[in-house]
Amino acid sequence: MVQQQRSPVTEADGPHLALVPTSVSSVTERGRLKDTPANRALRPETTPQPLFEDSRLVDESVYADEHCVLLQGDVKERLRLLIDIGLRVDCIVTSPPYYGQRDYGLKGQLGLEDHPSAFIDNLVEVFGLCREVLRETGSLWINIGDTYWSGKGAHKSQEVKQGARRFGIRPQDRPGDGLWARPKQLLLIPHRLAITLQDSGWLIRNDNVWVKPNPVPDQVRDRCSVSHEYVFHLTNSRYYYFNRLPVGREMPSGSVLPPLDTWEVETSNGSGGGHKASFSEELVRIPILASTPPGGIVLDPFNGSGTSTIFARAHGFRSIGIDLSREYCEHAAEALGHLDAAFATESVEDHDELSEPGDD
Ligand SMILES: C[S@@+](CC[C@H](N)C(=O)[O-])C[C@H]1O[C@@H](n2cnc3c(N)ncnc32)[C@H](O)[C@@H]1O
Repeated sequence: MVQQQRSPVTEADGPHLALVPTSVSSVTERGRLKDTPANRALRPETTPQPLFEDSRLVDESVYADEHCVLLQGDVKERLRLLIDIGLRVDCIVTSPPYYGQRDYGLKGQLGLEDHPSAFIDNLVEVFGLCREVLRETGSLWINIGDTYWSGKGAHKSQEVKQGARRFGIRPQDRPGDGLWARPKQLLLIPHRLAITLQDSGWLIRNDNVWVKPNPVPDQVRDRCSVSHEYVFHLTNSRYYYFNRLPVGREMPSGSVLPPLDTWEVETSNGSGGGHKASFSEELVRIPILASTPPGGIVLDPFNGSGTSTIFARAHGFRSIGIDLSREYCEHAAEALGHLDAAFATESVEDHDELSEPGDD
């Protein structure tokens, strides 16, 4: 008979939150984990390496090595390639273009649709494809901010910082439909996206709030200044992999509680290879470390400068990045190359240390 190792499971503890069997009933009399969805989520199968190095994937990539693949192209097309190959990933962490915030100057770019509803439809289609690529035990994390409708026409400010973010007439500068799209309206893009994804079958686990201690000041006087964005955590199923230990809060008793759903993280310092909207590394830490099992694969379908793929590589996971911009893909490939070179130097130094003359 197997001894119970921990106190009885509670809702807050949840079967997915610990990497040990959660109760006596999870284990057979011979001490083996029973083949249940909850137990499978504790130790998910991961994609075999030959599939990660499939020639159809490598031939289509701008960069591929045994740990990382970068694909340039439209996100929907590239996700379909992953689906066709049968490749499954464990964690998707991404920040899609925000509505009306940037012109990347690329044909087929998302984010400049005439009406916000068309933008939401596009994202829902993208995340529908993500659902097919995501393993049953996997997690999807979406960082997204909101947009105000302005309806003011072309921007007139000479201020450099403002000018850099403005690019002629943005969708929200047009007259609008008088309903969602009317002057001063906060579009509630994150909320609409999350509700539509929930309606399409995703399970929403958290609407984590990214609190920015150093926000770009809003040029307004009649409302509060915006200093947060969302990082939604969604899953395919109720049984998914989640390891709170590397990201949790250690209590004086030694137990580890899950992280809070408010994350105070400074905005990125813009070091992302010229990318104007790169993730802060701190923002992908909880998603990747908590929801990628050993040997797992992280996917960022809007990879930009590659913050998630590089963080994944630095922490021993495999990763796949997709971006429409060849330039961003090349910057990300270069950064991955630097990381590999740093690993190679470290391992030579370790080897030198181990083989000091006279050590044996
Ligand atoms: C907010 S940025 C992502 C930044 C990224 N998280 C980083 O750390 O640098 C959004 C990215 O989506 C890409 N993008 C826009 N439309 C796309 C499309 N249709 N297919 C693939 N990528 C697209 C842009 O090139 C941009 O790099």
